[in-house]
Amino acid sequence: MEKAAIIWTQLKASVGAQKWAIALSAIVAIGLGLAGISVPAVLLFWLVWLVALVNRAADPRPPVPSSNPSAMEHAGLGPLAAAFDALDTPILVVAADETVILQNQAAEKAFGTIPPNTDLAARVRSPGILDMVRETIVTGKANQFEHSERFPSEAVYIVRVAPADIGAPPARRLFVLSYRDISQARRIDRMRSDFVANASHELRTPLASLRGFIETLQGPARNDAKAHEKFLAIMHEQATRMSRLVDDLLSLSRFELKSHIAPDEAIDLAPLLGHVRDTLQPLAKDLNVEIVLDLPVGSVIVQGDRDELTEVFENLIENACKYGQDGRKVEVTLLGGGGMPAEVAVRDHGPGIPAEHVPRITERFYRVNVEASRSKKGTGLGLAIVKHILTRHRARLIVQSELGKGTVFTVRF
Ligand SMILES: Nc1ncnc2c1ncn2[C@@H]1O[C@H](COP(=O)(O)OP(=O)(O)OP(=O)(O)O)[C@@H](O)[C@H]1O
Ligand SMILES: [Mg+2]
Repeated sequence: MEKAAIIWTQLKASVGAQKWAIALSAIVAIGLGLAGISVPAVLLFWLVWLVALVNRAADPRPPVPSSNPSAMEHAGLGPLAAAFDALDTPILVVAADETVILQNQAAEKAFGTIPPNTDLAARVRSPGILDMVRETIVTGKANQFEHSERFPSEAVYIVRVAPADIGAPPARRLFVLSYRDISQARRIDRMRSDFVANASHELRTPLASLRGFIETLQGPARNDAKAHEKFLAIMHEQATRMSRLVDDLLSLSRFELKSHIAPDEAIDLAPLLGHVRDTLQPLAKDLNVEIVLDLPVGSVIVQGDRDELTEVFENLIENACKYGQDGRKVEVTLLGGGGMPAEVAVRDHGPGIPAEHVPRITERFYRVNVEASRSKKGTGLGLAIVKHILTRHRARLIVQSELGKGTVFTVRF
């Protein structure tokens, strides 16, 4: 009955739209009849004409192209589909019979194309999401669920479903599923908690040792002058280590804050490297290492910050001396100038770094050998600071290492 009423309304509208053309066709038909042409032939000709006219009026305008044709099948969803496509959050619109009737472009990108009227359960495998959608369909109350995807890449989403009455009155009750990607926030959370754990672990060791010595000095070694001298020296060393760690942490966060602002001083790298070598000369002497500088004749100018670049080369050359001590020689080569890009290579002839450690070496607190690094008073933050400074200078750090032969750290501006 309802269908017949719809057809009748459409027919009335079509006839209304073409009323002048229909009247004209009737006059032509009557004229042909009066001219003596056989009445059945005229009637047939007029009927065909009439049907063609009505059909033309009923013919809808060509559909607006849509990324998802299912959207157009449902009255009222057209403008909504365009709005959903503009969002970067994946969205699925589900009907009460659990079929997906609309998918926005972000959802298509994230989960692939879902053909119109596909059963939700055929595409969404997570029982948690399906249960949640079913519950909302029954209760009409919004719900959300945390969902992790392993494929095609690891991602964590907050999936929310909410009922929505959509379309021209009478509105149709549909259910809008939105996927909020919280993977990035989760990663940052994990990094932050790792960082706090690492930093407190690094501080706890010297603190525990300080407390131990203080207790010994207050108790058993109260009157032992020799022990006093020895323990105080160790305590001084531990306190220095803690303050170095805190200094490194502070400079790391300082560089992180301004990593997007490029420095603009013009720095000549040749005298800067000479100055760094002079600063590290006492350490090299202690370790029995020779620092050899190979500088070009002219000056090599880069845009940078003097103190920060000094810190970069101090750490690279100090590492080369400390960890490549057995090689006895650290070579620092400066290339560039005269329009050529500047490049500084710090080469040692030490034990090298195993290939699996190389990609992670600039992470905070990452050390190839924790004990060896600690014994050399390392905090594991040096290369992380180097990386941040070089990012700010739009320069790259390239690490090449061969086991048993040594390592080259190259800074390319
Ligand atoms: N030239 C090198 N040869 C071999 N291993 C190296 C070399 N440079 C760095 N490493 C390894 O990389 C790790 C990280 O170096 P990084 O400079 O970040 O920290 P650190 O030297 O331990 O501490 P800090 O520089 O804060 O005093 C070191 O602990 C060491 O294991
Ligand atoms: Mg270092």
